[in-house]
Amino acid sequence: MSEPHEHRVQEFYDSALHCYERIMGDRWHHADPDALASGLSRLRGCEIIEERLAALCGLRPGDRGLDFGSGIGGPTIHMARVTGASFIGVTNNARLTELARANAARLGLADRVSFRTIDDLGYQALPFPDAAFHAVTFFESVCHLSDKPALFREIARVLIPGGRVAGIDWIQRPFGPYQSEAQIAAIMQPVNDAITIPAHGTVASYRVYLESAGLRVAIARDLYDSVLCWSTVQDDETPSWAGYEGPEQQMFRRGEEALAHARRAGVFSVGMWVAAKPA
Ligand SMILES: C[S@@+](CC[C@H](N)C(=O)[O-])C[C@H]1O[C@@H](n2cnc3c(N)ncnc32)[C@H](O)[C@@H]1O
Repeated sequence: MSEPHEHRVQEFYDSALHCYERIMGDRWHHADPDALASGLSRLRGCEIIEERLAALCGLRPGDRGLDFGSGIGGPTIHMARVTGASFIGVTNNARLTELARANAARLGLADRVSFRTIDDLGYQALPFPDAAFHAVTFFESVCHLSDKPALFREIARVLIPGGRVAGIDWIQRPFGPYQSEAQIAAIMQPVNDAITIPAHGTVASYRVYLESAGLRVAIARDLYDSVLCWSTVQDDETPSWAGYEGPEQQMFRRGEEALAHARRAGVFSVGMWVAAKPA
């Protein structure tokens, strides 16, 4: 049997680790756009959106959260710290899991924040019992999955009745002169190829996945509605993607060019969703 797409994602993060950590630190997602617009740093903007999503989940001290696709742990650890909840972060890459564990231990939070490596297709049958979590979060991880509805079904299963899911993710959309599927695909395909994304969803498609899983959607929106989605990296002192030197530098520079082109065309954006499991 051929390897699933998700195995290539696991390998992608083996090579991306050096580049991503060097350029983005321990936050591999977009910052809150309003925070950036008001002049706050990228790191603070990332923390603010993590705090917003954790608050929208209603997490309280003693609650249990699951962070799907936890990278090297920055968002998971921060959400645990600000809410007082316990968190488990999962990825399909053991090197990321090890670093995330070390980060939690360094910050003295290992008793409340743990990390676990799951199989490439483990998201289709999460290794947790029914109703194990008060909340599930995701930060720019679901885009990598070839069967996104399967994850949302599993999220619904592992949530307690009344529990909530909140997340942000890469999406595509019509923008300006680029209105047809073919026009959008021509710009997005190089991004998909470079970042190991089988297909980008939309604000509407994730809403359908959530609803089909039996969840009640409270928020489904484009974080950059009607404007270009820019600035994963904003701090002047951050080494620029274009000048990145290190393992696989050509691949990452090419990927960043493809993404910058999609941002400029307006067809790339970031969506945000919050939904609840009926009580
Ligand atoms: C862009 S990174 C985001 C990391 C983290 N959420 C953050 O914002 O810093 C995407 C994450 O999704 C994880 N991921 C991708 N496909 C996965 C899969 N099939 N199962 C579990 N995790 C996956 C990757 O390992 C990585 O940790």
